[in-house]
Amino acid sequence: MFPLYLAPMEDVTDPAFRRLCKRFGADRVYSEFVSCDALVRNVNRTVQKLTIHDDERPVAIQIYGREPESMAEAARIVEEAQPDFIDINFGCPVKKVAGKGAGAGLLNDVPKLLEISKAVVKAVKIPVTVKTRLGWDDDHKIITSLAEQLQDCGIAELAIHGRTRSQMYKGDADWTLIGEVKRNPQIHIPIIGNGDVTTPQRAKQCFEQYGVDAIMIGRATYGQPWIFSDIKHYLITGELPKQRPLKEQIAILKEHVLAAIQWLGDERKGIVHSRRHLAASPTFKGIPNFRDTRIRMLQTNELSELFGIMDDVAEKQFE
Ligand SMILES: Cc1cc2nc3c(=O)[nH]c(=O)nc-3n(C[C@H](O)[C@H](O)[C@H](O)COP(=O)(O)O)c2cc1C
Repeated sequence: MFPLYLAPMEDVTDPAFRRLCKRFGADRVYSEFVSCDALVRNVNRTVQKLTIHDDERPVAIQIYGREPESMAEAARIVEEAQPDFIDINFGCPVKKVAGKGAGAGLLNDVPKLLEISKAVVKAVKIPVTVKTRLGWDDDHKIITSLAEQLQDCGIAELAIHGRTRSQMYKGDADWTLIGEVKRNPQIHIPIIGNGDVTTPQRAKQCFEQYGVDAIMIGRATYGQPWIFSDIKHYLITGELPKQRPLKEQIAILKEHVLAAIQWLGDERKGIVHSRRHLAASPTFKGIPNFRDTRIRMLQTNELSELFGIMDDVAEKQFE
């Protein structure tokens, strides 16, 4: 009921974070996007991105690229890692990807996009899903027809981020077209809505108003993997969850730091990697006179100092 998915995010949705989100109720998790060219070339760092643990399932590995043959070959390599889904990225707006004709760049070349979709579906036995945007820009919001075409290619599910490529991450996500795709009687595959879902109330509204089959949450998970259980609680009971005790929040965030260190195999790298979460976490918002300590917390490379600060917050030892 009310499926909530962890969105694919580069440098964020590694196995350590995915497992944590899964534990707090994410119904599906996605890897960060993986370059098909690097996979085919067997680049070590890229192959590492195929690491999957059974306790995070169902998990999707997302690939991106611009040529049907290399995408099909990459999909076969990914299938050997045994994810539950292979997801194709047709949504990444950044220059180094879209500018080279991959990711959202393919929204400018629909025939190629469909060729890639067909080639990947044909190459593997597991379900192939797609994540994309509304279109290239305001004048080319093609998602309604594209959804039908992707369904015809054998795509099993479609996730739509309610922005165009031109918008990058600016402005508000527009869910009206997502709702239109979902209501199209020609569409039979599950439609997953994505963009700016940050609260239980907004999640409820998106399910009710747009009728989507699932919601995908990205940035709002930073530093609060428990957001999935909070939203679920509200969707099921209609009541906002009680705030998790500070001690419990800190324990979860510390666990994430340790998991990141273990995943990266290096204390400093794990700490640096965790900063995005600590900086964004609601746990540290509104603590009086926390500014200087917060700066130290986000600058230290020492685990003992970091955990000391976090423990002080847990004990509310701040003036
Ligand atoms: C740091 C970052 C990395 C991202 N990396 C990916 C990616 O690898 N693949 C992808 O499909 N989308 C990626 N996205 C887009 C998100 O999956 C999502 O579509 C977008 O953030 C909107 O959802 P949100 O408002 O819930 O964050 C990324 C977004 C961010 C902020």
